[in-house]
Amino acid sequence: MIRLAILISGRGSNMLHLADAIENYKIDATIALVISNKDCDGIALAAAQGIATKVMKRSNFDNSLAHDAAIASTIEDCHVDYVFLAGYMAILGSVFVDQFAGKLINIHPSLLPAFKGLYTHQRAIDAGVKTHGVSIHLVNAALDDGPLILQASLGVTETDTAKVLAGRVLQLEHQIYPFVLLSLATQNVTLLPDGVIWHAKTLAAAPAEIQNVLAPCVIWPDGSSHQ
Ligand code: GRF
Repeated sequence: MIRLAILISGRGSNMLHLADAIENYKIDATIALVISNKDCDGIALAAAQGIATKVMKRSNFDNSLAHDAAIASTIEDCHVDYVFLAGYMAILGSVFVDQFAGKLINIHPSLLPAFKGLYTHQRAIDAGVKTHGVSIHLVNAALDDGPLILQASLGVTETDTAKVLAGRVLQLEHQIYPFVLLSLATQNVTLLPDGVIWHAKTLAAAPAEIQNVLAPCVIWPDGSSHQ
């Protein structure tokens, strides 16, 4: 069974969808701990689900290095296989990133390498791009960088505001992160410290809800988009 730690800072909708997917799709995984760096809705929601939680505020540590080290130590105590970042709004330093190389995964609301950082939806609209989406990637020491694991795209329409676009991308997020977890649990994807190997690039083993959402828009790391 895969053991996960999930790091959050906000509403926690991706974390909850991962928890729901484990339950509903009987994924051979468990969320060992949800850590946040602030009091937030997501931590309360996780606790309400009976998931172990810990709030570790940056202000309780001398510097970011000490904060990262404490989080790393807490994660190590849980003996997890993977650390999923799900709206964790702080940059993890290279010591932390190296410690969890090949195990540290992030979800970012753009088609990386486009629009790293914040306000991705407004920036996509301002740039006039026709295609936007979400990326799951291995984390390295650079911001929103690291080998791609999977992406899903959507078309930007004339009427999209940043808020509308964020909602449309979030619907993709809520399917693609569980699909990546499922794929790890079934060993259909292998993560290396600096690379990603899909053994079968297919959604065929995924539940219908995931297939319905992702089939029209999945992008594998080699750029192919077949299902
Ligand atoms: C998501 O858009 C995620 O892609 C980004 O932060 C947001 C977190 O949302 N990294 P939630 O807390 O999971 O609802």
